[in-house]
Amino acid sequence: MRVDLSVSWLGLTMANPLYNASGVMCRSVTELEQVRHSAAGAVISKSCTLQPRDGNPEPRYHATALGSINSMGLPNAGYAYYRDYARSYPYAQGKPLFLSISGMTLEDNLSMLADLASSALPCIPEVNLSCPNLPGKPQLGYDPDACAITLAEISRIYSGPFGVKLPPYFDPVHFSQMADLLNEFVGLRFVTCINSIGNGLVIDPDTESVVIKPKDGLGGLGGSYVLPTALANVREFARLLHGKHVVGCGGINSGREAFMHILAGATAVQIGTCLYEEGEGAFARILDELRALMLQKGYRCLDDFRGKLKTL
Ligand code: SIN
Repeated sequence: MRVDLSVSWLGLTMANPLYNASGVMCRSVTELEQVRHSAAGAVISKSCTLQPRDGNPEPRYHATALGSINSMGLPNAGYAYYRDYARSYPYAQGKPLFLSISGMTLEDNLSMLADLASSALPCIPEVNLSCPNLPGKPQLGYDPDACAITLAEISRIYSGPFGVKLPPYFDPVHFSQMADLLNEFVGLRFVTCINSIGNGLVIDPDTESVVIKPKDGLGGLGGSYVLPTALANVREFARLLHGKHVVGCGGINSGREAFMHILAGATAVQIGTCLYEEGEGAFARILDELRALMLQKGYRCLDDFRGKLKTL
């Protein structure tokens, strides 16, 4: 039996549903090209600000047996760098490019999106509403009024399809409130669930110390720590959003977790901590495992099980 892993969405076709989570292997052109030349089905760039940023002081990433904690603080080469990469990107080779945008202000986001709109490039923006690592700046995704204003302004100046990266939500009332808000914007075609679980604290009992420097050790959790929260967010938004896609992100280390995300309703899935730790070979390995699992279950394509999670 032949297994078809391809995904068609947003008018694009991906050979398979895997790509990098924004932030991992996507800050420089060298890294972006590593992902492009890997088995990944798409490429996304590091969340960019209008001007380049060095980000937070190091150490700002630490891996543990259960995942990772980071407080990178949006180190990036600035919007123009990623827009120039998007200009030279070989779209005809069939691997879609997503451009992650995380302006320090609404005006910055609008100016980047207006420029992107005037460039008429086929890359698709993912607007990051959820960076937890900017000292003194709360995550926009936890402020529904600010999100409503942001999405209304974006929709006013950007007519193409775009997505947003959301923080994790933890309460059914918040899932519903957020979904009602997101459903109002037709240009918003996908949500990526989830960004890291913000402001966790990892402690090393041997050194009796925190493990990262920014924010006295507070940082976003990724990897296995976050899998159940990511799955809950994917499933709830897949149920509550109308005619929009959900991209799953969080805790994917193998084909099994990729399968779980798609079963919960994800159209495509992003790999973060695992990619950081293993390198781009992770894509081919996870795809092999997903293909083997589908074969074992008799599934020929992703639509055979996408969103078909059973309840008891
Ligand atoms: C960072 O650069 O701090 C991570 C970005 C994010 O989590 O949105």
